[in-house]
Amino acid sequence: MQIFVDTADIEEIKEAKKWGIVDGVTTNPSLIKKAVEKLKSRGTEISMEEYIKEICKSVDGPVSLEVKGITAEEMIREAETLHKKFNGVNNNVVIKIPVNTAMQEEDEIFEGIKAVKQLESKGIPTNVTLVMNPTQALLAAKAGASYVSPFLGRIDDYIRDNLGIEHGKWDVFDGALLRKVEEGMRNADGDDGERYKKMASISFSDDGIYDGIEFVESIVKIYRAYNFKTKIIAASVRNVLQVRKVAEMGVDIATIPFKVIKEMINHPKTIEGMKKFTQDVVEEYRAIFEE
Ligand code: G3P
Repeated sequence: MQIFVDTADIEEIKEAKKWGIVDGVTTNPSLIKKAVEKLKSRGTEISMEEYIKEICKSVDGPVSLEVKGITAEEMIREAETLHKKFNGVNNNVVIKIPVNTAMQEEDEIFEGIKAVKQLESKGIPTNVTLVMNPTQALLAAKAGASYVSPFLGRIDDYIRDNLGIEHGKWDVFDGALLRKVEEGMRNADGDDGERYKKMASISFSDDGIYDGIEFVESIVKIYRAYNFKTKIIAASVRNVLQVRKVAEMGVDIATIPFKVIKEMINHPKTIEGMKKFTQDVVEEYRAIFEE
């Protein structure tokens, strides 16, 4: 599994690069905004173009940069601009295109899909973003996208919010447990059974998907069934459990926030073990390392 760092913070990118495990970078307008705010708060003066060039230079792998337009025409123009301005730096620019640029629920807009099809045919690689269900991922693959980014953390948020389950941004969510709770309630007698019947109109899942992990699993299944070449980037990753699960299912790439990459290396028993091994180094053993 490749690891991309999900940040536009150049310090984080450079630090993660030093660890030798970073294969690419994904940015979006919100991550760029956060990075710009950090720079401003420090009084650092740098032009946006120079800053993005610096990001492209700092990693020898794909760097996703997002368009801001709504129509296919705008997005294609912006993608060409981004590609022209930044791909020359390190030949690694990938253009992020939202799967659907609608601003309200009743709109079904295929502008993103149209843009992807055209950009790929011009040799500009795309990463279809804001993917929130498997059928959007199917459409992205049909359009020939190089990458697709299912936002698993946001699906966990969506299901929990719909059910009124309080949660923090980084909290683990277990869809398998939710499924058991639902089944238990459905089959229960007495108050729980009655409550379930009253709630029968409530969907515990998002169109049959119980959490972000299941969501990515479904895309993996669809892509394998038809041998689509589009690479899956597990995105909106919030915790190490999600990293483990997407790795187990053989996802191509996970784009992971800097904070979560750091959590991957941690375990209290590793620390305990380190302390003990360090204490237990006997003089005879230490002598081996002396020049
Ligand atoms: O890769 C997409 C990502 O940046 C969105 O993450 O945590 O804002 O849902 P998040």
